Amino acid sequence: MIDGNEKQACLIGNIVTLKRLREDFFEEYHAMFSPLVRERLGIPPTSELQQTIDFLKACMCDPQHLMFFCIFDNQTHKLIGSIVVRSADHPNGQLGSWVNENFWGGGRYQEALSLLLTYYFESTDEHIIFAFVAVDNVRSIKAHQKMGFMIDQTTQQSHCYGPDKNSYKIIFTRELLGG
Ligand SMILES: CC(C)(COP(=O)(O)OP(=O)(O)OC[C@H]1O[C@@H](n2cnc3c(N)ncnc32)[C@H](O)[C@@H]1OP(=O)(O)O)[C@@H](O)C(=O)NCCC(=O)NCCS
Repeated sequence: MIDGNEKQACLIGNIVTLKRLREDFFEEYHAMFSPLVRERLGIPPTSELQQTIDFLKACMCDPQHLMFFCIFDNQTHKLIGSIVVRSADHPNGQLGSWVNENFWGGGRYQEALSLLLTYYFESTDEHIIFAFVAVDNVRSIKAHQKMGFMIDQTTQQSHCYGPDKNSYKIIFTRELLGG
């Protein structure tokens, strides 16, 4: 089980740093959570700042949100995305992530994912982590496969993510971490 007191504030990589969600990140989070990212996640293209703040505050108090990190680019020090781990019974699956499209490629998400997965498996006894990815979200499927995630063929296309979207369940196991 995940230790609720396990609260490392910062995971520092070469090109990105993961920082636990804090209230002073809310505005930057809102600004970087772009219409394109929202479309890929199957949610409406825009929202008011207050809606984002309400959502983030709810996540901070939600026991199903076990780890909520914002991704910062080490060069520009900008908040460029987020990566979260939810409990296994959360309707959106365990792993959730996004990176603003101006920062796609270049290894930032790969490093963010690697930092998160390392921390997750070091701080819990869990053996797997899974995510749901819309079947037409090719970029996300490829990004996760590059890290070692595999499509769970037994549940293929049986889950829904966003409105009317079929999704794959993708799985990463502890054994895949660093040999
Ligand atoms: C998913 C996400 C976090 C990945 O970050 P990223 O920086 O784009 O990922 P990467 O660049 O590491 O990997 C994407 C890979 O997909 C490949 N790719 C992109 N479009 C592709 C396509 N149409 N066909 C085949 N490969 C494609 C890229 O070439 C890249 O692989 P490469 O590095 O071997 O060239 C980011 O794209 C994102 O935020 N998307 C919107 C929100 C989202 O989908 N979140 C995930 C929900 S499950």
